[in-house]
Amino acid sequence: KKNVTIPELLQMKREGHRIAVLTAYDYPTARLLDGAGVDVLLVGDSVGVVVAGHENTLPVTMEELLYHVKAVVRAKPKALVVADMPFMSCQAGEAEALKNCGRMLQEGGAQAVKIEGGVNMAPIIRSVTGMDIPVMGHVGLTPQSVHRMGGYRVQGRKDQAERIVEDALAVQEAGAFAVVLEGIPAKLAARITDMLEIPTIGIGAGPYCSGQVLVIHDILGLCEKYSPKFVKRYADLSPLITEAARQYVSDVKDGIFPTEEHSFT
Ligand code: KIV
Ligand code: NA
Repeated sequence: KKNVTIPELLQMKREGHRIAVLTAYDYPTARLLDGAGVDVLLVGDSVGVVVAGHENTLPVTMEELLYHVKAVVRAKPKALVVADMPFMSCQAGEAEALKNCGRMLQEGGAQAVKIEGGVNMAPIIRSVTGMDIPVMGHVGLTPQSVHRMGGYRVQGRKDQAERIVEDALAVQEAGAFAVVLEGIPAKLAARITDMLEIPTIGIGAGPYCSGQVLVIHDILGLCEKYSPKFVKRYADLSPLITEAARQYVSDVKDGIFPTEEHSFT
C-alpha cells in the first residue's frame, strides 16, 4: 500500500470509497493501526481524556499534542497523520494560529491539522490553508465548546440544523480538505455530505458520511467509564489487561516469576 495523500482522500469521496479514520497517540498503536489499513491517523486532543485522565479536552497543550504527533509520525505510517489543534492554539489570532499549525507540520511531521469550529473559525482556517497547511474542519458537537453546549449534547436538531450546514459550508469555503461531523442527526449529516465536495468524516453522525472516525480506546474497550451509543466495541481489552496484571502480581508474590530461564548467568 502507498502513502495516503490529501488528493486521494478527495478522490475517495468522489468515487464513493469510504475513509476509515482512527485516533492514535503513540508509536506502537500507530504501527498496528497503519498495518490494519487505516487511511488517516488522527492525533486527537481526546488524548487528554483517554490517556491523561482529564475531564475534557480543554487542558491539552500544544507541547503535549506535539509530543504525541512525533510519536505517531515515528511509526512512518502510510496513513495520513492529522494533528488536532488544542484549545486556544488557533483562537488568539491569525499569527498565533499560523505559528501553531506550522509547528505541527514542521516540528511534529504531521501532514495536516484539524481545527474545531465553523463560521466563527473560517477566517483562521482560510489563512492556514492559504499557507499550504492542509486543514480538516470539525463542526457539530465540538468538544472544546463543552461549556457553551452545557455538556456533550447532540447538535443541529430542528431549527439548529441550518447553523451546522452553514458551519460546514464555511469550512469548505475556507479551503478545508475534509470535515469531521460530530454528534449530529444522521439525516443532517447525509444532507451536508451530499452538499459538500470535500469528504465528511462522521462520529456520532450516522451512516451516510464519506468516512468514519472513532477514538481507539473506545473501539478496544480500554475506557472503563461509559461507552456512548455511537461507539462500536471491536475488542474488550480491559479485562485482558487486568487478568494479565493479576497473574503477574500473583506470580511475583508466590515466587513463580522470575525463574532461572529469565535470569542471566
Ligand atoms: O480528539 C479527537 O479524538 C477528535 C475525534 C473524535 C474527531 O477530535
Ligand atoms: Na479533538
